[in-house]
Amino acid sequence: MKGGVLGWLGGALLLAQDAVAQEATSVAGNELSSWVLRRRGSASYACKCYPGDRCWPNNTKWQKLNATVGGNLQVNIPPGAPCYNSFKGPLGEVKTYNKDECDKVTSNWYNEQFQIELPAAGLWTYFTNDTCRPTTNPSDTCTLGYYPVLVIMAKTAAHIQAGINFARENNLRLIIRNTGHDFLGRSVGWGALVINTHSFQDIKFTNQYRGACNYSGSAVTVGAGVQAFQVLKQANALKPPKIMVTGECATVGVAGGLVQGGGHGPLTNFYGFLADTALQFKVITADGVLRTANAKTNSDLFWALRGGGPAAFGVIVEATYKTFDDKPSSGVHLDIDTSHTTNATLFWEAVRIFHGYSTHFVDNGLYVYYEIGTAGQNLHVHPFVGIGKTPAELQAVLQPMFDDFAKIGITYTSSSANYSTFYDLYNAMFETEVAGNSALTGGWTIGRKDVEDNHSAIINAFQTVLGAGSFMVGHMWSAGHGLPQNEWGNSAVNPRFRNVVDKLITIVPLAGNAPLADKAAAQDKLTNVVDAALRNAAPNGCAYINEADPYEPNWQQAFWGTNYPALLKIRQKYDPNGVFYAVSTPGTEKWEQIETGTRLCRKL
Ligand SMILES: Cc1cc2nc3c(=O)[nH]c(=O)nc-3n(C[C@H](O)[C@H](O)[C@H](O)COP(=O)(O)OP(=O)(O)OC[C@H]3O[C@@H](n4cnc5c(N)ncnc54)[C@H](O)[C@@H]3O)c2cc1C
Ligand SMILES: *[C@@H]1O[C@H](CO)[C@@H](O)[C@H](O)[C@H]1NC(C)=O
Ligand SMILES: *[C@@H]1O[C@H](CO)[C@@H](O)[C@H](O)[C@H]1NC(C)=O
Ligand SMILES: *[C@@H]1O[C@H](CO)[C@@H](O)[C@H](O)[C@H]1NC(C)=O
Ligand SMILES: *[C@@H]1O[C@H](CO)[C@@H](O)[C@H](O)[C@H]1NC(C)=O
Ligand SMILES: *[C@@H]1O[C@H](CO)[C@@H](O)[C@H](O)[C@H]1NC(C)=O
Ligand SMILES: *[C@@H]1O[C@H](CO)[C@@H](O)[C@H](O)[C@H]1NC(C)=O
Ligand SMILES: *[C@@H]1O[C@H](CO)[C@@H](O)[C@H](O)[C@H]1NC(C)=O
Repeated sequence: MKGGVLGWLGGALLLAQDAVAQEATSVAGNELSSWVLRRRGSASYACKCYPGDRCWPNNTKWQKLNATVGGNLQVNIPPGAPCYNSFKGPLGEVKTYNKDECDKVTSNWYNEQFQIELPAAGLWTYFTNDTCRPTTNPSDTCTLGYYPVLVIMAKTAAHIQAGINFARENNLRLIIRNTGHDFLGRSVGWGALVINTHSFQDIKFTNQYRGACNYSGSAVTVGAGVQAFQVLKQANALKPPKIMVTGECATVGVAGGLVQGGGHGPLTNFYGFLADTALQFKVITADGVLRTANAKTNSDLFWALRGGGPAAFGVIVEATYKTFDDKPSSGVHLDIDTSHTTNATLFWEAVRIFHGYSTHFVDNGLYVYYEIGTAGQNLHVHPFVGIGKTPAELQAVLQPMFDDFAKIGITYTSSSANYSTFYDLYNAMFETEVAGNSALTGGWTIGRKDVEDNHSAIINAFQTVLGAGSFMVGHMWSAGHGLPQNEWGNSAVNPRFRNVVDKLITIVPLAGNAPLADKAAAQDKLTNVVDAALRNAAPNGCAYINEADPYEPNWQQAFWGTNYPALLKIRQKYDPNGVFYAVSTPGTEKWEQIETGTRLCRKL
């Protein structure tokens, strides 16, 4: 090793400099001097620039950026800071206590829309590191945790371009933040510069789309910041009422992470993923160029943006999707909990019956949203959705399950409702969700074949999940049911999804500021106990990049299957130097967040 006697740092620096120099063309994009060289164990890393590093831009540069983005550059202060005397951030300490602001953030902490409208808040706080939650003791310490340092509240495409260019030229960690819903912590990141897209709120409908695709039906073009409830409300007001594919959660954005991960929802049985319904994107790539991506222009990028992974190929400025006529719909709620039975054997027998009908449900066009273990020993189906079905038709699909319940003598609570549109059902029968909680989330999907071949293994796996102190959210749909098979390859989602009948999220609750050893144990439990049980029981399943363990083993295969090699090539074409980063997305093999999840570095 060169410079051995110079001590650890000198040696590491020299070694790393050599390694960088050897790879100069592939690492590059940035000059050698704009990397921070670090070492961990025997590995060397070239890291992005953070406050305090010599390559961090000086004030003059930041002020110049601020002028370019119309004065929309802000220092990020964690949302809980008004409850503390001061916020001790990497750019210095500022006094922050403000009783009114503290009361406001405290009373709204679990309100999704409140958190969404903050510049950089992460709705699931685990990956913020929870170092500044609202408190009643102002002398507690508030630090940055894994939050970004600066935020551009972008108002125009030019602001986004300026942010991308600045991050690329100065080798900064860059985060795109839309609603902050991300379960995997991808819309936060220690010491980063954020581009917030929430201001992009345009919604424009057309009855006859004219564009690069051979599609002439109705469509909608939405800005990057539009949320599902906004576009669905306006679509419902059209004559006749229209609908589009969104998630079951009305506050998730429709042109950000959702479509780039795929985007499944109650309409997936009929039209596939949101990604399957995309007609065009306006997108800014890592070189700062605003591009149109559709079936004819930049068609590789168009394909990759449809399920190839969030924040991997560019920043979407606007997206155009197919819309569809809405239909009368009916729904059913079902609950089985300890008020019905405390007998675990009987309860799991009921779950086995319910879940055994998953293929039957989706083959009959149902969408089923359910939770198991959210209130101890409970099954909470809220709701079964029959789009275009009368209550009698929906009841007929469910009847075999109810008959089987009667045979084993389980009681339950159930109710049925009828609506003139799916939109009305969506608003009435789905529960509103909350923000501000901390948990590790994972997940896996169950193949049709797994249900048919070895259903008891699946129920055993569910018991393992609950036995580990975790709980589950399930979504039954079939992305291959309504979409013609010749269109399955039009988007980049894992082809395995087309034969999946249930998509599960697993949740391991843990405070974001828990001791590191507890975090390591929880991550190990998620990967190697909870999700491992599902993976083993459902070998025909795969994982969904938006609702999964960030450290999913063999992630390339799990998330994208046979599409991965093509996605990797497209990533290398549009972002060869890693301007963008989101964990476990195409082309990030050499990138790691070292030093307890802080510095983003490229392994040399
Ligand atoms: C309560 C809840 C319910 C959910 N229900 C569903 C569901 O039914 N179906 C489903 O498919 N998913 C669902 N999800 C998961 C959801 O798809 C992801 O959380 C998704 O990443 C959210 O995207 P966002 O843009 O709203 O959020 P953000 O957290 O702001 O962004 C998520 C990711 O997308 C990137 N990103 C955001 N905007 C852009 C952009 N304009 N250009 C490039 N990259 C961008 C971010 O950098 C980040 O990596 C749910 C999540 C939650 C919390
Ligand atoms: C800030 O950085 C720029 C570019 O590196 C340099 O030209 C300028 O002199 C610096 N300004 C100050 C005040 O250090
Ligand atoms: C950017 O400019 C605006 C308007 O002049 C100012 O209010 C804001 O504090 C500036 N941001 C930073 C980080 O200096
Ligand atoms: C994050 O939290 C862990 C404890 O879970 C702590 O050890 C670490 O210092 C924190 N890091 C930051 C940057 O807040
Ligand atoms: C549109 O249809 C024409 C004629 O059938 C076909 O040649 C062309 O490839 C199609 N284009 C797209 C984008 O599907
Ligand atoms: C629990 O339910 C199972 C299955 O119905 C039954 O065999 C068993 O006797 C029940 N146990 C008790 C204590 O009631
Ligand atoms: C259900 O709603 C539809 C549309 O509003 C209506 O036509 C139908 O009569 C209703 N059916 C029942 C059983 O209530
Ligand atoms: C069913 O799954 C279990 C658990 O993964 C496995 O051990 C068993 O071999 C499987 N049985 C069949 C018939 O596939």
